[in-house]
Amino acid sequence: MKYDVADLSLSSEGKKRILWADNDMPVLASIRKRFAKSKPLRGKNVSACLHITAETANIARTLKAGGANVALCASNPLSTQDDVAASLVKDFKIPVFAICGENRSTYYKHINATIDHKPVITFDDGADLVNELHTRRKKEAHRIIASMEETTTGVIRLRVMANKGKLKFPVIAVNDAASKRLFDNRYGTGQSTVDGIIRATDLLMAGKKVIVAGYGWCGRGFAMRARGMGAIVVVTEVDSIKAIEAAMDGFEVMPMAQAAKVGDLFVTLTGNKNVIRSEHFRVMKDRAVVANSGHFNVEIDIPALKKLSKKMRRGVRNYVDEYVLRNNRRIYLLAEGRLINLAAAEGHPASVMDMSFATQALEAEYVIKKRGKLAVAVHDVPIEIERQVCRLKLKSMSIAIDKLTAEQLEYLASSGEGT
Ligand SMILES: NC(=O)c1ccc[n+]([C@@H]2O[C@H](COP(=O)([O-])OP(=O)(O)OC[C@H]3O[C@@H](n4cnc5c(N)ncnc54)[C@H](O)[C@@H]3O)[C@@H](O)[C@H]2O)c1
Repeated sequence: MKYDVADLSLSSEGKKRILWADNDMPVLASIRKRFAKSKPLRGKNVSACLHITAETANIARTLKAGGANVALCASNPLSTQDDVAASLVKDFKIPVFAICGENRSTYYKHINATIDHKPVITFDDGADLVNELHTRRKKEAHRIIASMEETTTGVIRLRVMANKGKLKFPVIAVNDAASKRLFDNRYGTGQSTVDGIIRATDLLMAGKKVIVAGYGWCGRGFAMRARGMGAIVVVTEVDSIKAIEAAMDGFEVMPMAQAAKVGDLFVTLTGNKNVIRSEHFRVMKDRAVVANSGHFNVEIDIPALKKLSKKMRRGVRNYVDEYVLRNNRRIYLLAEGRLINLAAAEGHPASVMDMSFATQALEAEYVIKKRGKLAVAVHDVPIEIERQVCRLKLKSMSIAIDKLTAEQLEYLASSGEGT
């Protein structure tokens, strides 16, 4: 078995983490049990470009239990948990090509190793694997039945490809499923972004002015949690609807140019580029902390920050680089502008990834059933799969809900008389 991980001797720690996460992933575990019997993915080569975390290990185990031959690579150079990667190889016999801190060329070499695995189904978190299958490795695209996309930025990239008529195989926007983004993007990113910032800085949130750029699913989650810890939260937005929502949720809303002057901590969660740039760094307070939790490390204009600085001290603390501007003010950039929750903390808690990865696993089964029948386009997750995941999650939480009565069903299906 070919693989490339940092250190196989880390496997026992990794195994503990994988099994600990599994305790909190009952929906995925129930699917794994069913897959082990019915083998819906029997003999299928599957390649997944995902954050190599304990939760990802559990979806890989689920796909393998379903009969798939799984290979994994990282979807971010800084998010790999090396102990988990080691355990996947050693204990679960799943090939992994991922090393935390890998450089750009190794990152792409690893993606290519999973393409050499000759997948018929792919999973992506940010569309880097699909992009490779449409550019440097396009001869391999003919084999793909479908690809699953896990995050907002990936779905945006894939929709652009589809609109330009460039997409070569069907993709499923798993990110857009309610069973994913309502919980994973909101509660998962919300909590783990706070966790990453605190682990990196030991900052007290109470009383700090925290600037949240982007009030989408992730931004809402983070703003809510930061407020819960006593921060004074300010939101910046470009969308008028989201801006009103933030205002009515009780947050201050203002442009970044104004927020830059007052913030103690800045967090970008937009999926956009250069959201914090020169004109903003120039007016920031001394010792302002800047972090990103959006997918790519382009939300903060780091080249501009470098240009404005007379001195940079790398690693003044783990995951913290100090930039001293020519006006002598210091700015602390966390995790080189990469996803702070995955770089400095452990990513989303397993309990929320349970829903995202249960949706992914059921979707893999679905695309096999629909083989050849799905148009080459970006598809939504069928509502029945979303409902199934939510039903199983409620059951695991011992929460029961009401059922519509026959009379109510009839009422809702009719034109709905009042009295
Ligand atoms: N950290 C994680 O683990 C994690 C998890 C899920 C998603 N993501 C990533 O986070 C990013 C956001 O995802 P989402 O699901 O919240 O997307 P979303 O589309 O729901 O929200 C993004 C918001 O940012 C706003 N925005 C865009 N440009 C802006 C700008 N210049 N200034 C201020 N606001 C701006 C948009 O109007 C929108 O409201 C994406 O890159 C996504 O891939 C990260």
